Amino acid sequence: MSPLNIKKLVPRGIRLRSKMRWKNGRWRLATTDRVFLEDVIVPFFLADDDVRHVLDIGVAWYTRSYPRLFKGKDYWTVDIDPEKQRIAGQNHRTVSATQLDSAFDPETFDLVVCNGVIGWGVNTPPAVTQALDACAAVMRPDAWLVVGWNDVEGHRVPGLEALFDARFRRVDFPPVGADHFIPETPYGHRFEFFRKR
Ligand SMILES: C[S@@+](CC[C@H](N)C(=O)[O-])C[C@H]1O[C@@H](n2cnc3c(N)ncnc32)[C@H](O)[C@@H]1O
Repeated sequence: MSPLNIKKLVPRGIRLRSKMRWKNGRWRLATTDRVFLEDVIVPFFLADDDVRHVLDIGVAWYTRSYPRLFKGKDYWTVDIDPEKQRIAGQNHRTVSATQLDSAFDPETFDLVVCNGVIGWGVNTPPAVTQALDACAAVMRPDAWLVVGWNDVEGHRVPGLEALFDARFRRVDFPPVGADHFIPETPYGHRFEFFRKR
């Protein structure tokens, strides 16, 4: 068995826990995609005074410190799994990404982050369509949408690019000068940057 296959025998949660590092007073998951998210994407938006209301879709044990990371912003999270309420911050709603309008007023958010949800629960073109429409509904005009997903078999949703492009315009993310960024990961993670039309 190759070392790659042996790795797969170890549950994902345990593999990830071995990548936890202590930095700036908090534990962080030090995978290249998460380091890019926390060290490049988040600081960029923290410095943007036009971004005050932030919605982050999907909560995990390694995002527990995100209410602190987004300190100074009106930071909200949602997750479809009621169990995530326990580890989420105060500003949290148990709701599906496909039904955000049942939890938030229209045009509330300046930024929506949807990392690791498409292909990790929102798995079919109709579900993605509903989720993107729901995001657009709670985003103010010109608000940012950052999507992170894994471009690998088993997590790739067919026709995803066209679903994005039908609803949002791609924009360059200034720190990288491109509308997407692909950190080096074994799971094809990529970030895409959009603004509401
Ligand atoms: C891999 S974790 C991603 C967590 C986090 N957003 C991140 O940056 O890694 C996927 C999370 O998405 C949640 N999820 C799956 N389908 C969802 C949906 N339709 N609406 C909201 N959350 C969903 C799952 O319950 C899980 O907590």
